[in-house]
Amino acid sequence: MIKDKLEQKLKEIKSVALKVIEEASSSEELYQVKVRFFGKQGEFTALMKQLGQFSKEERPQVGQLINQEKKALEEVYQVRFDLLQTSELNAKLEKESLDLTLPGPKLSQGSQHPIQFVMNEIVDILSRMGFSVRSGPLIESDWYNFEALNIPQNHPARDMQDTFYVNDEYVLRTHTSPIQIRTLENEEPPLRILAPGSVFRCDSDVTHSPNFYQIEGLLVDKKVSLADLKGTISFFVKEFLGDQIKTRFRPSYFPFTEPSAEVDCSCPICKGEGCRVCSHTGWIEIGGSGLVNPKVFEYTGLVKDEDPHKWQGYAFGFGIERMAMIKYGLNDIRMFNENDLRFLSQFNR
Ligand code: PHE
Repeated sequence: MIKDKLEQKLKEIKSVALKVIEEASSSEELYQVKVRFFGKQGEFTALMKQLGQFSKEERPQVGQLINQEKKALEEVYQVRFDLLQTSELNAKLEKESLDLTLPGPKLSQGSQHPIQFVMNEIVDILSRMGFSVRSGPLIESDWYNFEALNIPQNHPARDMQDTFYVNDEYVLRTHTSPIQIRTLENEEPPLRILAPGSVFRCDSDVTHSPNFYQIEGLLVDKKVSLADLKGTISFFVKEFLGDQIKTRFRPSYFPFTEPSAEVDCSCPICKGEGCRVCSHTGWIEIGGSGLVNPKVFEYTGLVKDEDPHKWQGYAFGFGIERMAMIKYGLNDIRMFNENDLRFLSQFNR
């Protein structure tokens, strides 16, 4: 190859390269120019490979010439590349700019489930009277749920509650009363405990849910009377539902209390006048109660052959849903489980 021809070729390359560099409209497009001219398979590399065709004397000169042209073009390339990149970055920043004065996304605040809310309030009131919380398993053995509570096998009282059986020995607890037994087995009186929690019965309609909540109370001491029970519950009801609400005790039967009483409160909706909520009686039932049956003390080993009256106590069990429905004038127990936020979010945290 003669030098003239090479110079001609360099000129051509230069003019084409300048044109494409000029015309590239993005840094990405421009990068292709780099590959095409300066890359390993590029035009300049191809030219260098032809150096062998020149004489030994000419070679350094020709090589230098090619390199000079390449370097000059590379500089033009770099200037254009930087320019394109800067304007691309500016365009991007412009497009993605943040207006810090715009209001942020609304953060919705959660609230407690009404059952939890009411349960906390009940625990709060009773805690102020010296009761503290205990808990127990949801799956209970026959012993804790029935036997030790003086409800033997085949006793008619077993039919008072429709039980979900897990197997021959275990049930889903039908009430929170098994925690009375667990506490008496493990702790020394005097004691005052509360057991709020989930219970299960095979029952379902507008006022009954197969899974609902109760709160159990148990007090054991040396001298405990029905008057103590009445005083505590009446005070609790006034604190929870309002000063004007009265409490009434109706004789009843529970195998683990003797005597036993059902607890009613005067209807807060009609103030005792009689309305649909209280079935025109002026009273609403909130739970069961009574003095601890000495048999329970025997079953739990608290009292052996000695004086069965060594310890006395009272117990009560209220339905949480029921208390919530009375307090807030609700008429369908299923609302608690329907997950309608319009309903659920009305309760304070
Ligand atoms: N456990 C009883 C029930 O679920 C309620 C109760 C508790 C009654 C404590 C008396 C004493 O029906």
